[in-house]
Amino acid sequence: MTDQPASTMRMRTAMRQKLESLASAGVTHIQSPRAAQPREPAQPREPAEPSVLAELQATQNAAPGVCAQMLQPRQAMPLPLAEVQPASTAAGADSLEQVGRDAASCRLCQELATTRTQTVPGVGHPQPRLMFLGEAPGADEDRQGVPFVGRAGQLLTQMIENGMGLKRGDVFIGNVLKCRPPGNRTPSPQEAANCRPFLDRQIALLKPEFICCLGAVAAQNLLATDRAIGKLRGQVHHYRGSKVICTYHPAYLLRNPAAKKDTWADLQILMQEMGLPNPGK
Ligand code: URA
Repeated sequence: MTDQPASTMRMRTAMRQKLESLASAGVTHIQSPRAAQPREPAQPREPAEPSVLAELQATQNAAPGVCAQMLQPRQAMPLPLAEVQPASTAAGADSLEQVGRDAASCRLCQELATTRTQTVPGVGHPQPRLMFLGEAPGADEDRQGVPFVGRAGQLLTQMIENGMGLKRGDVFIGNVLKCRPPGNRTPSPQEAANCRPFLDRQIALLKPEFICCLGAVAAQNLLATDRAIGKLRGQVHHYRGSKVICTYHPAYLLRNPAAKKDTWADLQILMQEMGLPNPGK
């Protein structure tokens, strides 16, 4: 280290700072120059880790009536990725990193800004075919700065990996609110409106072909409707060029395991729309 020229050391420091800043904005992948060409499909992946299987087994035991197919480990399938667009032509000079920075300095919702540990902008693939949209960070997410890392998050990961045969890192996961509402209360309409520009900027940058809304708050806010989640699920909606599937929130599924069969049906619609193989057929 000590015999490296000062310019190399400066470059290494600058690169480390840039990577840390990207990571804090939820960026988990960096596009290499080769990615400017259409991407090849991802390689087939390994079956689920034994630890995930053990967790699934535990969920199945703890929640009788849970949809068995959603819990079966699956051979992960190659995910055909959306065509890559340079960020500069996709959304001007904006970036996921900038959205993360702007959210972190936002104080529009005074209560949330004074009670949050940190903002939780979102995490995952910067050019995903699929985005999951939840409600707002909970206590674990507020502590870690990453969405869906608590119990509901573990179930979401199982839905993505064991149910759909994808990897969590293939998709982007975000929330309607970037701050935790105290006590995990439901976001107010004003809070959702204050945070909406961040979500719309993320969607403009990500250009997901598909958005899966998790729960009523996500579905009703994204689609600007007050229809019940039970009425919104089971069909394809549209938002700014993305196909939208709505289903129950994983936290609701933990409390009501009988609804897992409905969510599995919704994921099957999503998989069919995405052209992913359906293990139930
Ligand atoms: N519930 C959500 O809606 N979002 C999270 O990030 C975690 C739990």
